[in-house]
Amino acid sequence: MNRIELYQGDITEMHVDAIVNAANRSLLGGGGVDGAIHRVAGPKLLEECKKLNGCETGQAKITMGYRLPSRYVIHTVGPVWHGGEIGEKELLASAYLSSLKLAREHQLKTLAFPNISTGVYAFPKQLAAEIAIETVRNFLENDDWFEEITFCVYDDENYEIYTKLLNQTGH
Ligand code: APR
Repeated sequence: MNRIELYQGDITEMHVDAIVNAANRSLLGGGGVDGAIHRVAGPKLLEECKKLNGCETGQAKITMGYRLPSRYVIHTVGPVWHGGEIGEKELLASAYLSSLKLAREHQLKTLAFPNISTGVYAFPKQLAAEIAIETVRNFLENDDWFEEITFCVYDDENYEIYTKLLNQTGH
């Protein structure tokens, strides 16, 4: 069953059990998709985030979605790209895997990811997409719990990259 979907648009409009936020370690909001999620969710999201005491890079924490159409937000922190020699690839894979595990623990069935670390954190988009797809695919091959995992791309470049990669290996 094909459980990986690709959608180009605004993740704050997605009706899924949880959307994943590309946050920073403070979990106190920011720009990019983090800013959009907090804007739509409203101030109660920040109130709940403040109680979480931050989040380490590669880890994930969950909150309610408040005014978002998604019931939950899984906040994860991707690595800042510094050339790829200090574990950025492993930390990005960990951000995806931690989010999947947390969604599974909360028995969520549908989940949407933005392109973590490829904006402000400057992670190369092609490499990030390969890591994201490989991490999600490996998880789905070992666990049939999820109904649908959506890669929510925002810009055309990521859309082209994901379309090619997902078509290459029949997803
Ligand atoms: N819906 C989906 N994707 C979005 C949206 C949106 N509304 N807004 C931006 N994006 C995309 C960007 O185009 C990019 O492809 O999310 C991807 C991640 O980019 P950033 O949001 O810049 O996240 P990241 O690169 O992980 O940097 C995280 O940025 O916003 C701050 O607080 C955040 O400090 C943290 C840093």
